[in-house]
Amino acid sequence: LQTLPPVRLAQKYFQIFPDERDPLWQNPCHDKRHKDIWSKEKTCDRLPKFLVIGPQKTGSTALHSFLTLHPAITSSFPSTVTFEEVQFFSGPYYQRGIDWYMDFFPVPSNASTDFLFEKSANYFDTETVPKRAAALLPRAKIITILINPADRAHSWYQHQRAHQDPVALNYTFHEVITAGPSSPAALLSLHLRCLQPGAYSSHLERWLHHYQPSQLLMVDGVQLRSSPAHVMDEIQKFLGVTPYYNYTQALMFDEGKGFWCQKVEAGRSHCLGKSKGRKYPEMNPESRVFLSEYYREHNVELLRLLKHLGQPLPVWLRDELHNAS
Ligand code: A3P
Repeated sequence: LQTLPPVRLAQKYFQIFPDERDPLWQNPCHDKRHKDIWSKEKTCDRLPKFLVIGPQKTGSTALHSFLTLHPAITSSFPSTVTFEEVQFFSGPYYQRGIDWYMDFFPVPSNASTDFLFEKSANYFDTETVPKRAAALLPRAKIITILINPADRAHSWYQHQRAHQDPVALNYTFHEVITAGPSSPAALLSLHLRCLQPGAYSSHLERWLHHYQPSQLLMVDGVQLRSSPAHVMDEIQKFLGVTPYYNYTQALMFDEGKGFWCQKVEAGRSHCLGKSKGRKYPEMNPESRVFLSEYYREHNVELLRLLKHLGQPLPVWLRDELHNAS
């Protein structure tokens, strides 16, 4: 039997199987052949039971912070390379493999009752993510948060301005959303990044291609903002996590911040930082009309999809379609 040195052998292998150049990591414990060669020192328990996938600007940080209050739920450690979120399935770090990913999670003290999770808000609309996530975490539950895509786009634009994005600083929101093929490349790129995540139904279809409908929960972000304790109860049920945690006692409305926050001792509150719940001028009516039209087909599709899945319809979606009709 003859073989080649490792590098040449690998080159030969990928010549024969070019499709396999892009790795697709699976859980080593789901296949006996893999498990047998997986180091005995390692465990497959350091993987999330659920993912919060965003999209950005829908309240994903608030949801993350509320989830971590639950005694049986543990978040991934913050990443220093990608500003807190791990973004494993969506970014270049995917190539580093599952050991890199697992290092973001503690070893759970009880793998069956502890719920590890990770929130990366760009998972929702990044093309490759559902396939990659389903390969590694086929039994995971997936939580997405949806608000009116027009409000999401506006919040995202304000976020870019706050981060001194020169293009967002140079153009008004209306100019960004109405940009077209003849616009400067930088403006067009911002336009797409601003609007594409809001095509909710197309992104959800992609997730549903890889996960069963029963594994997905669409949270109404408007309700999360106004009645978080109620939404957190629904999420606890969906996850099947115990013990039941009483969010009514854990959260309080902070008048100064204008949002629900964690209740800490002596009736004081601990809220998210200044970058969440920013103050900025309302969207102008012209832009709202434009975006209602822009998203109408997507919203109609979303309505169909949610009805088909038997998931509750968010109030904002009913209102949006009612006003647009
Ligand atoms: P704005 O800053 O535009 O108001 P994300 O964390 O996904 O980036 O979403 C940020 C948005 O979460 C904020 O957008 C804010 O409206 C919303 N949000 C919902 N509940 C919140 C809470 N309890 N505290 C702060 N922001 C909250």
